[in-house]
Amino acid sequence: MYDYLIVGAGLFGAVFAHEAHKAGKKVVVIDKRAHVAGNIYTEEVDQIQVHRYGAHIFHTSNKEVWDYVQQFAEFNRYTNSPVARYKDELYNMPFNMNTFSKMWGVVTPAEAREKIEEQIREAGIAEPRNLEEQAISLVGRDIYEKLVKGYTEKQWGRRATELPAFIIKRLPVRFVYDNNYFNDKYQGIPVGGYTQIVEKLLEGIEVRLNTDYFTHREELCPQADKVVFTGMIDEYFGYCYGELEYRSLRFETEELDCENYQGNAVVNYTEYEVPYTRIIEHKHFEFGCQSGESSLKTVITKEYPAEWKKGDEPYYPMNDEKNNLLYGRYKELAEREKNVIFGGRLGMYKYFDMHHVVAEALACVKKELSDN
Ligand code: FDA
Repeated sequence: MYDYLIVGAGLFGAVFAHEAHKAGKKVVVIDKRAHVAGNIYTEEVDQIQVHRYGAHIFHTSNKEVWDYVQQFAEFNRYTNSPVARYKDELYNMPFNMNTFSKMWGVVTPAEAREKIEEQIREAGIAEPRNLEEQAISLVGRDIYEKLVKGYTEKQWGRRATELPAFIIKRLPVRFVYDNNYFNDKYQGIPVGGYTQIVEKLLEGIEVRLNTDYFTHREELCPQADKVVFTGMIDEYFGYCYGELEYRSLRFETEELDCENYQGNAVVNYTEYEVPYTRIIEHKHFEFGCQSGESSLKTVITKEYPAEWKKGDEPYYPMNDEKNNLLYGRYKELAEREKNVIFGGRLGMYKYFDMHHVVAEALACVKKELSDN
């Protein structure tokens, strides 16, 4: 008999399993995929760690979480500094003095502020009626036209004039020459990829891959006192109130006989006519890909936004009012469900970064172990 049947070998399930196992509990982990690590899965190709489900950069200001993950991998000093490409023009992101200097030739923060304010004044928008007007009233026309418009339209699959203004509450602009995307204290990529972190978390624990909970629940549930479920909460309840919605993505990965394709890990394509939103060149997440096999090859992934329909990979929960209300109803059912804990991005229907997931899983398992 198991103390816990953990559904999902992603980061949430693995952290929960690790801590429960360490406390002497008997645990089994199942996953419907053929590999562990969920969406943080990385795989080596030509000595390059490929992020199979999109670029993953670990960043946090939570020291406890940072110290926790350090136990399972060494992290490099990678700093996320995406570049935006609009036609043949390249701009640093996030919007900062490097971006403004390239766009307008301004040099000082005062000049950059004046330029943005002048464009906002010229637009004369008092009450933005749509996303386009909202963005222009925040950063002016040039940044909007070149760096926001096409990218946002591709992501949402609709024209900016047809999207509601509230989607963009603010657009961070920084008046310093600093291309670091995140404000967090700690940031990096595990040397050797993310999969090893999950493998180490699951060391000594029984793991069954290619095992879908819904196909095997009759056989598995009687063998465990409790279930930790990190799959889709609406699927768990048979979609009884209807389906929660997601945004999906499609990845196209190519191996190229080329040493260095784009010179940066992340390049955003901000014009509407290019169908993908970004290209990831995986070797630039790690240092040391200059020697060996990987020096001659590279692996790139084009990321295409995609509508989600049942059966597709659910990447981003649509946390709008309608879906949050629906989730609230499922959450009520979850609270009444005996001996089942719902966790992770799908079980809690919430966009979580990795550091949130680690913090949530640690808090959840701590509470669980102290109650039992
Ligand atoms: P996750 O989805 O990883 O794991 C759930 C597991 O449950 C999956 O393996 C699934 O197969 C399994 N499962 C589901 N239903 C099942 C069933 N019925 N039976 C058996 N198994 C089942 N974060 C960050 O900090 N920095 C970043 O740069 C990024 N980048 C990023 C890019 C993209 C494109 C996305 C979509 C997400 C990110 N993230 C991120 C977020 C990060 O991916 C996320 O925080 C974690 O992967 C969430 O871990 P979970 O364990 O909650 O879910």
